[in-house]
Order: sequence, then C-alpha cells, then structure tokens
Amino acid sequence: MSADIAKLTVDDKAVDLTVKHGTIGPSVVDISKLYAQTGAFTYDPGFTSTASCESKITYIDGDQGILLYRGYPIEQLAEHGDFLETCYLLLYGELPTAAQKADFDYRVTRHTMVHDQMNRFFQGFRRDAHPMAIMVASVGALSAFYHDSTDISDPQQRMIASMRMIAKMPTLAAMAYKYSVGQPFVYPQNDLDYTSNFLRMCFAVPCEDYKVNPVLSRALDRIFILHADHEQNASTSTVRLAGSSGANPFACIAAGIACLWGPAHGGANEAALKMLEEIGTPDRIPHYIARAKDKNDPFRLMGFGHRVYKNYDPRARIMQKTTHEVLNELGIKDDPLLDVAVELEQIALKDEYFLEKKLYPNIDFYSGITLKAMGFPTSMFTVLFALARTVGWIAQWSEMIEDPSQRIGRPRQLYVGAPQRDYATVASRG
Ligand code: CMC
Repeated sequence: MSADIAKLTVDDKAVDLTVKHGTIGPSVVDISKLYAQTGAFTYDPGFTSTASCESKITYIDGDQGILLYRGYPIEQLAEHGDFLETCYLLLYGELPTAAQKADFDYRVTRHTMVHDQMNRFFQGFRRDAHPMAIMVASVGALSAFYHDSTDISDPQQRMIASMRMIAKMPTLAAMAYKYSVGQPFVYPQNDLDYTSNFLRMCFAVPCEDYKVNPVLSRALDRIFILHADHEQNASTSTVRLAGSSGANPFACIAAGIACLWGPAHGGANEAALKMLEEIGTPDRIPHYIARAKDKNDPFRLMGFGHRVYKNYDPRARIMQKTTHEVLNELGIKDDPLLDVAVELEQIALKDEYFLEKKLYPNIDFYSGITLKAMGFPTSMFTVLFALARTVGWIAQWSEMIEDPSQRIGRPRQLYVGAPQRDYATVASRG
C-alpha cells in the first residue's frame, strides 16, 4: 500500500483503491467502487474494520484512551463545561460565545414541555413497563405530535426537531420514572438549568418543596457530557441508517434508543450494577472472575471491555471521580457495592486474561453506583444514557442529512443458503 493507493487483486482483476486520510487517526481504503470493478464485496461482520462515513464530530483513539468532541478532550469539557454547551459544540462544531450560549440555552428551555396529550398517551402503559420501552414509544410518538418538524428537507424544521428532542428528552425520561412509581408528573421549571430541572422533574412531589442539590446536579451534568457522543457506535449507526432512508428525526432517534437498550451497549450500566449486587461481597469476586474467563460460561464482567478502547476508557476515569464526589456529598461512607467494584477492578486489572485481551473498565462500570446513590432505580440508568446521547445522535443525523454524498445505507451479504431450486407441491415432498 503506497501513500494514497492500495492495490488489491480479486481473482485475476487487479484494482487500485484510493486511500483517504483523516485529520488524525487511521486512514481508510475507499472500496465504494470495488463491486463495480471486481464483482466482489468486502466481508466484515460487526464492522470491525469498516468506516461507514466521514465525520467531523467525535474522535476516539482506543489504544491511547483518547476521546475528543470536535477536537476538545473529554476531560477538559467535563471539568470546565456544562452539558448544554457540549450540545452546542456537538451540533454546531464550535464552543459558543456567551451570547450564543445564552440564546441556545433559552431556545432549549422554551421547548421543555411536551404536548399535554402525551400525558394520556402515557396512561396506556402498564405501571411495570420498563422505562426504556416507554422511551422508545414516546419518542417515536413525538412524530405524531409535532408534524410541523418532520420535513427533513427543510433546515428550519430539522433545527426545531433537534431543539425539541434535546429539550423534551428529560421531560419524557422523568415522566417515565414518575409513571413507574405512581407519582404525578412534575412539569418543567424553566428558571432551572437543564440538569437541575431534570432532577426536580424526577424527585419533586407536589406536597413538598424540592431543593436541587448543586453537587448532584453538577455530577449528573458531567455524566451527561461523558455520554453525549461516541462516534459510530451501534445506536448512532442505527440512527444514521434509519435516517438514510429519509425517515423523520423522531423515528430515527426512537430507533437509536431501541438499539441502545441492549446489554452489550447502553444496557450495560444496568447490567453492571445488577452484577455488583449479585457478587455482593469482595470474597465472592474470584468465583465471578473465573466464570468470566470460562469459555463455556456465557457470563461476562459487565462494565468491562470495549470494541474501540483497548486501554482505560477515559470516561471511566472521570466517572470514578464523580462516583466518589457523589458518595461523599451524600455521606455514603461504606457502600458495599463500591467496595465490590473497587476490588473487582483491582483484581481484573492484574489478571492475565483481562490484560492479554485488553479488557479495562468502561464508563458503565461506575455510572450505576453513582446513579443509584442519587436515587435512580436501575431500570432508569439506560434512560439517562439515552437522554444524554440524544444530542450525539442528532448531531450525527444532521451531519448525514447535510452530506451531499449521502445515500440510503444498504449493506450486502455473503449468501450461504440453498441455491436456486424448484417448488415442490406438498404431496410430492418426501
Ligand atoms: N468479560 C469477559 N470477557 C470478555 C469481556 C468481558 N466483559 N468482553 C470481552 N471479553 C472477551 C471475549 O470473550 C473475547 O474472548 P475470545 O477472544 O477468547 O473469544 C474477547 O474478550 C473479545 O471480545 P469480543 O466480544 O469479541 O469484543 P467486542 O469488541 O465484540 O465486544 C463489548 C465489546 C463491549 C460488547 C464486550 O467487551 C462486552 O460484552 N462487554 C460487557 C458489556 C459492556 O460493558 N458494554 C458496555 C460498553 S461501553 C458503553 C457503550 O458504549 O455502550
């Protein structure tokens, strides 16, 4: 492979493939003409070697443990920024000026209420419905309530749909929680910041005053920043693929939420906490480590490993610090789950199996402990992930829609089924 050309021979056909270079990170071999030139497809289940698009939004160096949003390191954004500023950055590519930030915050805040008929829509769910099921349905249902922002060819409608989803996601997430515990919905209060407003909608009740704890609000805001985008992961690729057909933005984000729900993706924070609870005490850790290493046991250490990070997930470091801040603020000195988590991490980080496979704690390892301490039930963890990731999905969806080279996503396959054969009538089937 020379600098800009890769040479490939398929059967007796030799082709030159263009090598494209990004700003940073690995180059890509452009195979878009490969089928036309050779009659062959590439084969890459799980897309481990496939770049599906060009993007200017997020960069990950998995070997170094680096995550950048629009070029800015996640550590700096989490330390100095706030979530809405991060939303602006992801959507528009630059950090906002003070005036731009004030205007953006105002526009998001003015969209926080949901159509009042949504309240009745919620009554159709069973009380024990998983809140992620409610989120998939209610975000999809936004397209039935807001027809005036579903025309994707109109930039103004796209912008309004984006604002609506970023603003309404906390309201819907809080409603899903309130519904599950049988408490009345709490309307947004727009003089509060985004994250404080969300905490209030979740935990306030009409019969008492509710004061937002600024330390918890700041910690949750940071958790939102950490989850805001993560380049072409499964749910983001789902949003892009759904959007490539021209589907409306609410439907696309609902598709992303559905994909996020799985335990290998966003559902891992819920699964990680359940695992820590199941382990229970540090003395039981070796048994679970042995199970994780056993090829015949499907058990995996949840919150460990990542398709891209083959080093410590940079978000996990910030998350771990945030966990301690939250537990300190709440005066939780001895949390048995934290004891198990700290010990498990130490043991796994020294174990040959995990070292060799480069399995490090990911963001979900510590987030469950933090969210639980804040008062969120386990079933809400992935909902909070979805809330924060919505802006990333929208930024990636917008980038795709605005890309002139965008076409419907349509992978091919290696067919291994029966060759062509003739239909046989029932009577003649032996
Ligand atoms: N515990 C034990 N072994 C593991 C684990 C784990 N958590 N993760 C991977 N392995 C092993 C796996 O068995 C395989 O071994 P071998 O090569 O001997 O067959 C090897 O490591 C590679 O695993 P893989 O499944 O081929 O890797 P992947 O890139 O397809 O999967 C993953 C990545 C995140 C799905 C996987 O590591 C996993 O299931 N982790 C637990 C779930 C989890 O924490 N997910 C959250 C990811 S971060 C948040 C997000 O982005 O959604």
